[in-house]
Amino acid sequence: MSNVKPLLRALRGEPLSPPPCWFMRQAGRYLPEYREIRSTADNFLDFCFSPELAVEAARQPLRRYGFDAAILFSDILVIPHGLGQQVTFKEGEGPVLNALETTEDIAKLDVSMVMGRLEPVMEIVRQISFGLDEQTALIGFAGAPFTVAFYMIEGRGGTDGTKIRRWAAERPDEFTALMDVLCEATSAYLIEQVNHGAEALQLFDSWAGLLPESQFRRWVIEPNRQIVEAVHRVHPDVPIIGFPRNAGVLYRDFVRETGVQGISIDATVPLAWAATELLPLCTVQGNLDNHLLLSGGMAMENEVRTILSVLGDGPFIFNLGHGILPPTPPAHVGRVVDIIRGAA
Ligand code: CP3
Repeated sequence: MSNVKPLLRALRGEPLSPPPCWFMRQAGRYLPEYREIRSTADNFLDFCFSPELAVEAARQPLRRYGFDAAILFSDILVIPHGLGQQVTFKEGEGPVLNALETTEDIAKLDVSMVMGRLEPVMEIVRQISFGLDEQTALIGFAGAPFTVAFYMIEGRGGTDGTKIRRWAAERPDEFTALMDVLCEATSAYLIEQVNHGAEALQLFDSWAGLLPESQFRRWVIEPNRQIVEAVHRVHPDVPIIGFPRNAGVLYRDFVRETGVQGISIDATVPLAWAATELLPLCTVQGNLDNHLLLSGGMAMENEVRTILSVLGDGPFIFNLGHGILPPTPPAHVGRVVDIIRGAA
């Protein structure tokens, strides 16, 4: 057996049978053991910055399912926190930020503070990496600039992005200044994660699909490209997975123009299209619908088998189209893993 971990082999372009698998949000509230340790911290950011809690949260899903990768336990909103913006997480409501409104609000963001404020994350990366067996890879991550800016400007999730879209269209120079700050901070943060043991990286651009083509090219493809380039200047061999969620046919140009090694696709992407248009370009990761995972049963199982039959010849990594939903029964996750590994 090759001494390279299956996830990393897949990201080098090797088709593997069975394909490696991990799930977005594999650590989190659907696991009773997560809810138990989560209840010991009031504030989610405190939880994210506690090595004891965050390392344990990252290991929990590996114990249950033997996934091929651990993902750093953290959040994309640690970057605005590191830049000095106020970020809190409200029970049942999600993140709440002191929304940026003016040029001065952007000028106050301090890139020089980020790495100091995010130092606890590096200890967490180191400890997760240290505890892994030789077959399990560690994925580091960050939010891509447009998605992080979405929360910084909207102040919360669950909006249709009216504020950020108006800002980008009406004050593009200011918006560019914000995106430049985010590119710089995110590149430095990801490089540090690799320095401390991350073996692959994923850039989450969850709100990319809001944008029309011209804006998508400017605010999604271009910043992702810049970050891939900056990370590869320092770590040329670290594979990077892009996730411009809901990008439709623009996934193809995203892959061609950013230089990513892997593309994570949402559940709406037709499998045959992904096979003909994306598999020749890079490793594809996806795309079981998280709502089918929640429901379970034959609908879920048939979809898993269909995904494997269309994309399984790879290079492919089995994953979801978006993160595990909190009410998902853990047994459904186990069932999917058994099917992928041929035990069912
Ligand atoms: O297992 C993993 O995937 C690792 C950890 C991880 C979290 N967030 C932990 C988390 C990762 C990779 C993220 C990414 C993230 N965070 C994204 C991109 C992916 C996506 O889902 O679109 C986004 C947009 C965020 C921002 C964010 N963080 C939101 C909107 C919320 C609230 C919604 C929710 O699920 O509660 C969070 C909170 C959050 N991040 C939790 C976890 C485990 C739940 C908080 C808690 O336990 O109290």
